[in-house]
Amino acid sequence: MKVLLVGNGGREHALAWKLASSPRVTALYAAPGNPGTAQVADNIPIGVMEFDKLLKFVKENGIGFVVIGPEDPLAAGLTDRLQAAGVKVFGPSKAAAQIEGDKWFAKEIMRQQAVPTAEARSFTDAGAAEEFVRMRGAPIVVKAAGLAKGKGVSVCYRVEEAVAAIHSIMRDKAFGDAGARVVIEEKMNGPECSILAFIDRKNIYVMESAQDHKPIDDGDTGPMTGGMGAYSPTPVITESLLRDVERQILVPVVDGLIRDDIEYRGILYAGLMLTPNGPRVLEFNCRFGDPETQPLMMRLQSDLLEVMLAVADGKLDKVNLKWDPRPALAVVATSKGYPGKYPSGLPISGIDQADALPNVKVFQAGTKQQGKEIVTDGGRVLAVTALGHTIADAQKRAYQAMDLIHFDGMHYRKDIGHQAIAFGSK
Ligand code: GLY
Repeated sequence: MKVLLVGNGGREHALAWKLASSPRVTALYAAPGNPGTAQVADNIPIGVMEFDKLLKFVKENGIGFVVIGPEDPLAAGLTDRLQAAGVKVFGPSKAAAQIEGDKWFAKEIMRQQAVPTAEARSFTDAGAAEEFVRMRGAPIVVKAAGLAKGKGVSVCYRVEEAVAAIHSIMRDKAFGDAGARVVIEEKMNGPECSILAFIDRKNIYVMESAQDHKPIDDGDTGPMTGGMGAYSPTPVITESLLRDVERQILVPVVDGLIRDDIEYRGILYAGLMLTPNGPRVLEFNCRFGDPETQPLMMRLQSDLLEVMLAVADGKLDKVNLKWDPRPALAVVATSKGYPGKYPSGLPISGIDQADALPNVKVFQAGTKQQGKEIVTDGGRVLAVTALGHTIADAQKRAYQAMDLIHFDGMHYRKDIGHQAIAFGSK
């Protein structure tokens, strides 16, 4: 089967790497891809939002299956567009992708279905939002309701920080139309984790647990990013907690969508906080997490294409996935200045040497081929991912591999996995 993967991040490199190992894949294309996906797929120069060109490529090249990685094309209806033309797709429809594309839509579904989450209000008027945070006090969380590349959330410990966040989102339009509405919610406390599930409308397959680290600096400090590292599994999630998450969160949300005539097919990602009162939802995403996908794909031993096709065909109940029992851990290297402004075009060395280490894979994200060189081309540049006998072992291997990689201004956190290691030693 000929497969087209849409996207060009570290998540897509990990998905391409895994899809390429499927015996059923006869040709793999990535649009637009990156130098990492080019190791296993043919990159085609079509952007993720160029729907007409994507459809034309699919039709002209006999593509049998399209896998959509990022949220932007999902939220804009790429699945619907391709399906209307008779193409088989992995990824939710535009209506279903609202679970990520509109945080207030997600809150409404959770409220209707009594899914545990933070108390929240939404505002389309900046003045009213500011008045609310002054009345409510800190700590408080301010979120742009729309898609903001993982950067639209501010955890505010002082009222003035919350007012500044509202100003930036609603008046300065830091995230464009994504900030026309803000969602303001109570700050919850506890360890975080990411639970990703395959959903085929009626069946739910919950994957192994994972956790990412969103703040830019060690000790979970500094501005929020798309994710600075991740590992799987996370020891804070037990088997019984995973079943609670499925019963109390995933099942009612999928049922609530069906009740609203929305079929969910693809990945449902629940970002959770494990509060003293049980797991509560921080956010939903309509796609694989980045960088959670990197350790998850390192651990997945089954054929990814088979499970994705089962989702598209509504046959997820026939699938049972095998996972490597060893943990995997990914460390993300970023450009100097990220998540703010950063330079591009800086030569990267050491990727091949790091890749050559046993049980290590370098998944590329913001990179570009320039002549013979690979250069930086984004905020999050790459994720070094390693399997180990324990999280501490995976961490050691990932950092040994990271030591071999260099580009000017390279930044990475030195403590990815620290909570899991501390938890394990309790
Ligand atoms: N790692 C968080 C996300 O993918 O949104």
